[in-house]
Amino acid sequence: MTDLSRRSALRRLAQGTALLSAGLPSLAALSSRLGAASNDDAYWEMVRRQFPFREARVPMNAANLCPAPRVVAEAVVELTQDIDVDCSFNNRRKFKTMLELSRKQVADQLGVDSDEVALVRNTSEANNIINNGLPLKAGDEVLLWDQNHPTNNVAWQVRAARFHSSVKRVETPSEPTRIDQLIAPFEQALGARTKVLALTHVSNVSGMRLPIRELCELAQRRNIHVHVDGAQTWGAFNLNLRELRCDSFAASSHKWFCGPKEVGLLYVKRDRIAEIWPSLVSPGWGSDVGPDVKGARKFESFGQRDDARLAAIATTVDFHRLVGFDRVEARIVELAGALKAGLKAEGFRLITPEDPKLSGGVCIMRVPSRKGQEVFNQLYTRYGIAGAATGGLRLCPHIYNTMAHIDRAIAAVREMRSMIVEV
Ligand SMILES: Cc1ncc(COP(=O)(O)O)c(C=O)c1O
Repeated sequence: MTDLSRRSALRRLAQGTALLSAGLPSLAALSSRLGAASNDDAYWEMVRRQFPFREARVPMNAANLCPAPRVVAEAVVELTQDIDVDCSFNNRRKFKTMLELSRKQVADQLGVDSDEVALVRNTSEANNIINNGLPLKAGDEVLLWDQNHPTNNVAWQVRAARFHSSVKRVETPSEPTRIDQLIAPFEQALGARTKVLALTHVSNVSGMRLPIRELCELAQRRNIHVHVDGAQTWGAFNLNLRELRCDSFAASSHKWFCGPKEVGLLYVKRDRIAEIWPSLVSPGWGSDVGPDVKGARKFESFGQRDDARLAAIATTVDFHRLVGFDRVEARIVELAGALKAGLKAEGFRLITPEDPKLSGGVCIMRVPSRKGQEVFNQLYTRYGIAGAATGGLRLCPHIYNTMAHIDRAIAAVREMRSMIVEV
């Protein structure tokens, strides 16, 4: 982390602290430790200690849900209490400013403008806002990756049934070695009727990563809207959405971002905002859906929101910034690389590509489907590692995991070999 970015993180902390003295100062107290230049085991042990889980129950399922660091969880509790002690309009006025601070922090993290960021409830909702809101006509076609999550897949099918649009699913090679092998199937499928390309940055069922920028370039030459489900990348990769070039991007705070539960992100590129209808109309949606009156805020007016959680998004961005967005990404690549290499060395077969250009933090190994539940269950009950039985055995390490956790997971899988390898 550069001195400049640390200074600006601290300035923002001071701003937050001035808004409410509860919760936020403890992050300021951590800044010199989290921002330390070292990258050794002691540093990562210190990062791990910022999270409250016990060694007997180690989370390794970031694709589903992550623990929040203590500073974030405490900020939510204290801000909630602040509302319960005095829920007057007068007291709650400051939350408007805090919401805008959260929005600005997320926008800065992702290299876009505040007006392009809506803080919704989760990826499912953000995907569905795009699906419901894009002005499609009968006969228009939506092209999907067949590995998309149901909220960016079945949801398009439901819409097609209602409005007579059509859906085409694109399959990609299961063991790609180069990104052009992932581009070609989409290029071949694009047609004159294609109006939307709905993608997933990193798949939750294979761990495969799509070359989003290249696919955006391909689609945008034809004025096709590219929507990206980034549930598996916000908080894991150091993203710049402008450079990624997508038109819209959805994610959840409670996954790799390690933020408050049930807060989500919907980014919509400035010149696409006006044409997309909000799914829910409530005060603040802006009947004047003209160019950019309220920007993407029109997508997040759902009536009364949980102001405390929305405010704690700013604290979460500061936590990432203090560790360093690049350092978070590099550590996830390091942990995922060590896990995949260790499993492979034991003779297990991976579904997820090993190459970081073709993958992210989601690591999946083959397990006979009828054994998936049992393996995942024993991994938790006997070895204290919480993974998932999604697409095989799915393990998704994050910065709160140490190399000792990776070694424990590999040793556990080795001990369960007879259950996993079919003779
Ligand atoms: C790729 C992808 N999209 C969307 C979702 C849904 O996320 P949420 O339940 O936070 O809306 C998930 C959940 O695992 C996912 O992996």
